[in-house]
Amino acid sequence: MLDQIRQKALKQIEAESDLKNLEAIYRQYLGKKGELTLVLRSLKQMSEKQRKQKGKLANQVKKEIKQALKEKQEKGIKQAKVSKEWIDVTAPGVLPPQGHLNPITLVQRQAEEIFQSMGFSILDGPEIETEYYNFDALNIPENHPARDLWDTFWLKNLDLILRTHTSPMQARYMEKNSPPLRIIVPGRCFRHEATDASHNFQFHQIEGLMVGTNISVTNFKGIIEEFLKKFFSPDVEMRLRPGYFPFVEPGFEIDIKRKDRDWLEIMGAGMVHPNVFKSAGYKPGKWQGFAFGVGIDRLAMLKYGINDIRLFYGNDLRFLRQF
Ligand code: PHE
Repeated sequence: MLDQIRQKALKQIEAESDLKNLEAIYRQYLGKKGELTLVLRSLKQMSEKQRKQKGKLANQVKKEIKQALKEKQEKGIKQAKVSKEWIDVTAPGVLPPQGHLNPITLVQRQAEEIFQSMGFSILDGPEIETEYYNFDALNIPENHPARDLWDTFWLKNLDLILRTHTSPMQARYMEKNSPPLRIIVPGRCFRHEATDASHNFQFHQIEGLMVGTNISVTNFKGIIEEFLKKFFSPDVEMRLRPGYFPFVEPGFEIDIKRKDRDWLEIMGAGMVHPNVFKSAGYKPGKWQGFAFGVGIDRLAMLKYGINDIRLFYGNDLRFLRQF
């Protein structure tokens, strides 16, 4: 009987994994109505001989159970502490959730890298411009119908506008720097026009400008072809069509064609107009150069097969997460 109690109790203590349950085990055996307590109590009714013999054993069992409970508790506390404080120093770190770049930024950076490899410097220009740099310095006189080509946002009560293209940086840069020069100016532009799948009131351009003593259309073609090949693929085709922009003469529209697809217009360009050099204070007849303006949104749409420019600006994560 006592042996059974001992075995059962010790087994139970051994198997118990929750420290909170040791209390219940104590009560089960040593509480007021505990199994062992009852045995101890029944000793009174026994003969002296029996009482002596059984009492000794019962007290021994009591001691053993108490001891086992104590040891289990100490061990459990120690273990809990160890498992709480344990760290796996070899485990890889947990990265915090991270955002990533908009496709416009990705494409801008790719383009910057390509032009940089061809010796172009990268510049930033102001998004809020004066009429002078956005138009006058680019050979677009006041009241000239050509101004209507650029639907403009005006800043109320200020003589300022949101730039309609990145071309004003041509004028700003040439005013302060002498040729030879090669720059690109990526940036945001704004036009007051209706929004649809291929037009938005804000978009991005990269302005390019290269000026020297002998820069010709051939140089332009060479550089742009190299850019397009690196940006799209080596089999991309390009063509120049005549186009009109007041700040170039002659002016072109550049179309590209990729395998099994249609021709698509991606940029305006041309040889810098003498009046633009004149506004910048360059000596007449001394310099020649080309300028171009390519739409970054256009490039991104073509590269990634995106059919609506508004997706770039909607901040829809289902779209953005694809890049
Ligand atoms: N600035 C022109 C536009 O926005 C593009 C352009 C740039 C054309 C440079 C010729 C030379 O449409």
